[in-house]
Amino acid sequence: MQLSQRIQQLTPSLTLAIDAKAKELQRQGADVVNLGAGEPDFDTPAPVVEAAHQAALAGKTKYTPTAGIPELRSAIAARVSKTHGIAVDAAEIVVSNGAKQALYNALQAVVNPGDDVLVFAPYWVSYPDMIALAGGRMVPVAVHEGSFEPNLAALEESCTARTRGLILNSPTNPTGAVYSRETIEAIVDFARRKDLWILSDEMYELLVYDGAKHVSPSQIGAEGRARTLMASGFSKSFAMTGWRCGYLVAPKQVASAVATLQGQMTTNVNTPTQWAALAALDLDDSVMGAMVKEFGERRRLLVRGMSEILRGRAPVHEPRGAFYLMQDVRPFLGKRFRDRPLRDDRELGEALLDSALVATVPGSAFAAPGFIRLSYATSRENLQKAVARMGAFLNELA
Ligand SMILES: Cc1ncc(COP(=O)(O)O)c(C=O)c1O
Repeated sequence: MQLSQRIQQLTPSLTLAIDAKAKELQRQGADVVNLGAGEPDFDTPAPVVEAAHQAALAGKTKYTPTAGIPELRSAIAARVSKTHGIAVDAAEIVVSNGAKQALYNALQAVVNPGDDVLVFAPYWVSYPDMIALAGGRMVPVAVHEGSFEPNLAALEESCTARTRGLILNSPTNPTGAVYSRETIEAIVDFARRKDLWILSDEMYELLVYDGAKHVSPSQIGAEGRARTLMASGFSKSFAMTGWRCGYLVAPKQVASAVATLQGQMTTNVNTPTQWAALAALDLDDSVMGAMVKEFGERRRLLVRGMSEILRGRAPVHEPRGAFYLMQDVRPFLGKRFRDRPLRDDRELGEALLDSALVATVPGSAFAAPGFIRLSYATSRENLQKAVARMGAFLNELA
């Protein structure tokens, strides 16, 4: 009995594998600090939980329209119109099981077998497999070392007659980069010249620090607006990862095609979850503001801690958005920890977990060999503990 070729080409997510290993060690009683997870440690705000509870009690437990309850689609449209300063209609919104399904749907809707999709590397682990499932081919495009901003010359060189679109993710997982307005404008201009779709993954749009500003390609004139398929959701910004609610904002024709696809696949998002998401959009800005402020403090603490333990042996690139720090560990590769060779970022990450009990994700998972990704979506106490342990680990390298 054979599995399909489609399934055989998939790679299991390394981030989930590391998270599972860290949790297994914790289950066995080890005091692991988990900087691997891409998940806020905050509780979902109480009014959101209450809204789901009330919805279920009120019998809002039936199928809804596939694209979402009209109230939620309208509220999302109103919010995006306000945050992005563009006019968005409820008919352009499809509510999905997380931004993950929104991205999957969008790729299925616009990519033909044999098409190329450009993706800036380092990139989020799911893009290559999602593109492959649509029959497309991912073409990685370099970013500038240090700033992690897209290399626009490399973008031009990567484009061929087969190129159908590009994926943009700012603020970025895994680097924490927030692309400048000039970069976004240049990318929209490129998409216009080459007649491409821009799939803009804006999952971390609210998580920006130190005055950094999130700019969406949909805000760059009529061309940017018409070419952008925008995915976002409630997981990271509202501490709602397990609720599974995200959305796509797309031109009506694409949104309608996506709703048809979703109607043959998963139908609507869990009904009480949709009412919960509606309540999330109604929260006072101060609730989110407090979470963003705390992430900002943690970021400062981690950047300072890493700079102190590294003492110039490797650069620390300060992230400006999301909740990740991409740490260059190339100067340590080729060394040994006790008797263990650290030939690459995977071996270094494994040794760090086994011996120092700090879980991180090797950069190779994101096409960034020689780096490790540290998530600061954990308490300040955990971050301090992790930094101290990493410092002791690095000092033992020979
Ligand atoms: C860049 C990026 N996009 C999309 C997602 C998907 O989030 P969700 O499906 O929980 O909405 C994630 C989650 O880790 C992410 O990091």
